[in-house]
Order: sequence, then structure tokens, then C-alpha cells
Amino acid sequence: MASQSHTPFHLLCLLLVLSLCKPSFGSGIVIYWGQNNAIYPQPYVESSLLETCNTKLYSIVNIAFLNTFGRGQTPGINLSNHCDNCTFLSDEIRACQAMGIKVLISLGGASGSYGLDSDEDAKSVAKYLWEHFLGGQPTDGLPRLLGDAILDGVDFDIEGGGVEHWDVLAESLHDYDNISGRVYLGAAPQCPIPDAYLDKAIKTGKFDYVWTQFYNNPPCQYASDATQLKQSWTDWITLLNQTGNANTKLFLGLPAATQAAPSGGYIPPEKLKELCPNLKTFQRYGGIMLWSRYFDGYTGYSKLIKDACVSAGSVSRQEFVSSI
Ligand SMILES: *[C@@H]1O[C@H](CO)[C@@H](O)[C@H](O)[C@H]1NC(C)=O
Ligand SMILES: *[C@@H]1O[C@H](CO)[C@@H](O)[C@H](O)[C@H]1NC(C)=O
Ligand SMILES: *[C@@H]1O[C@H](CO)[C@@H](O)[C@H](O)[C@H]1NC(C)=O
Ligand SMILES: *[C@@H]1O[C@H](CO)[C@@H](O)[C@H](O)[C@H]1NC(C)=O
Repeated sequence: MASQSHTPFHLLCLLLVLSLCKPSFGSGIVIYWGQNNAIYPQPYVESSLLETCNTKLYSIVNIAFLNTFGRGQTPGINLSNHCDNCTFLSDEIRACQAMGIKVLISLGGASGSYGLDSDEDAKSVAKYLWEHFLGGQPTDGLPRLLGDAILDGVDFDIEGGGVEHWDVLAESLHDYDNISGRVYLGAAPQCPIPDAYLDKAIKTGKFDYVWTQFYNNPPCQYASDATQLKQSWTDWITLLNQTGNANTKLFLGLPAATQAAPSGGYIPPEKLKELCPNLKTFQRYGGIMLWSRYFDGYTGYSKLIKDACVSAGSVSRQEFVSSI
């Protein structure tokens, strides 16, 4: 009889199952898309944005890069040979978002002409980003470079352009954050603390995600063993603990191939699979960030590490639900 099955033991099992199903903090893989690095034999090129999302491997895609902005310049994107007129990407961005994948515009990169001269400059760049990539509409007569799709937020991959005013940019962007136009903020600092450009910005506590680059940084990257890496990871947790934002997620930023990081930091998939169970025990663990889709498409790195490094539920869906 059915009623006989509701013993305390069965109730306990039910509670256990419910607690396992309860959305905990999900984790996911974050990918940079937009640069064809042209290292592998032709005709291999980076897959399109839509193909990238269709792999279902990623929770967040950073479109890289908006690499001309600030200092009175007309902003410009460089998506290598993907496009010059990139407005057609709006349909692909919306298709990615419909799959539960967040799409951010990534500022900066290793080369380009960008920088901030003053706090006023930072505020005007924030306004530009709101009007051209997020929920606003241009008031400056310039086109929306990715068309009318409303992106989910902005990533700071700042590796030049002066050390000041990035905190003001983060705060100003955060001011545009509201329910109908949530603005997610990501940062990609180098692993040595303090980061030369983003330290003050990260300390504002305005970032949802910090995907630290644990590569091309010998003092704090993996190098045949994980001692330095683990120490640096803990240092980053400590730093984020001090920003006053309990929700900022920390991601392990890695190259998706040895060739993706000339100064090292690549972790063989078998080794990363050993590390991930430990990373997952940190409440702040957000997942793995990879540079880049170009390399990942060739090596299949994320497919190999996904099961070990990603918990059920993606970061984007979990946080979307919790942000309502
Ligand atoms: C875009 O950036 C790449 C390097 O990432 C560079 O080789 C290329 O010249 C840039 N294109 C333009 C139009 O600036
Ligand atoms: C970019 O492409 C769109 C769609 O094809 C077109 O409407 C627009 O005029 C183009 N923009 C430029 C600057 O060529
Ligand atoms: C969101 O914030 C921006 C900037 O403050 C504002 O222009 C916009 O109207 C706000 N949207 C809503 C729906 O409140
Ligand atoms: C960070 O904060 C969490 C939550 O308060 C705490 O459990 C953890 O020990 C802290 N970690 C470090 C390395 O400070």
C-alpha cells in the first residue's frame, strides 16, 4: 500500500533527494570568443558565435574585444576576421541567450588603443557601453557595433591604458544595473596580487565574476605541480572575501592549449580533473575560464574537463534565478 511507504526512512530519503536537487551555486565554463589566433594549420578557424554556443559547453561567452575606447577616441571592436560590420551578430547573441548562455562584451585585451584619462572619461565610456551594447540607445549618432541585441554585461580584460579610473568605470556601469537590464560585470586580472590595472576596480565589490588569468604568470601558475597555483587561488579567495560582496564568483582562468599561453600555465586535462574536486569545495568557485574558443575548438579541452570541473546547473541559469 502506498501509505506504508511513507516511513520516516522514506521521508528522510525524500528530504535528502530534495536537498541534493536544491540549486546550489552552479559552475560553468567561460570562453573568450572573437580572436582567430592563426596558429593551427589553415583552414582551421574559430567557429562562429552561434556554433560556439551550440556546443552547449559554455555558460558565458566574452566577445573579445572592444579594444579602442576612452581618451576621446571613437570606440571600435576587433573581432579579427570574423567581421568588419558585426551587426549580424545580434541574432546569434539572442540565440545564445535563449540557450541560457550569458554574452558579455570584453574590454581591452593584449593589444589595442584604449585607456581612461579621468573619472569623467570613465563615466563617458560607461555611458557609451550602456547605449551601444546594453539596454540604452545611442545618443551620440554612432552605430551599435553588435546591432540591437542587449548583451548581459561587460568584461574587463585590461592589460594597458593607464592604471587609474577603472574602479570608476566599474561603479558607473553598476549604476546602470536594474531589473529589466541587469548588467553583469566580469574581470580578468593577472594572478599576481595586486593586479596592475584592476586591483582598485575589483575592490569596489561590483564584480559578479572574477576570472583570474593563472597563465603567462610564472609566479602563480601551474608548473608541473599545483603548489603555487593553490596558494594563489587561496590568496584570490581572501582578496574577494575582503571586497564585501559575498556573491562574487572566482574562476580559474586557463589556456585551452599549450600554444595559447607562451609563458606557461597550461594544465593537462588529467591534472585539472584532479584539482577540480578541491576547487568545487570553495563557495566562491564559479568554474573555469578558457582562452579561447579558437584553441578550445581545436584541442577539445573543455569537453575533457567539463564533468570534473562543472557542477550541475550552469552559472548563468542559477544566478539568473537568484537575481530575480
Ligand atoms: C585585430 O587584432 C589583431 C591582433 O589580435 C591584429 O593582428 C589585427 O591587425 C587587428 N585588426 C585591426 C583591423 O585592427
Ligand atoms: C551593417 O550591416 C547591416 C545589416 O546588413 C546594414 O543594415 C548596415 O547598413 C551595415 N552598416 C555599415 C556601416 O555598413
Ligand atoms: C536602468 O538604469 C538606466 C540608467 O540609470 C536608466 O536609463 C534606465 O531607464 C533604467 N531602466 C529601468 C527599467 O529602470
Ligand atoms: C572566505 O570567506 C568564507 C565565507 O566567510 C570563509 O569560509 C573562508 O574561510 C574565507 N576564506 C579565506 C581564504 O579567507
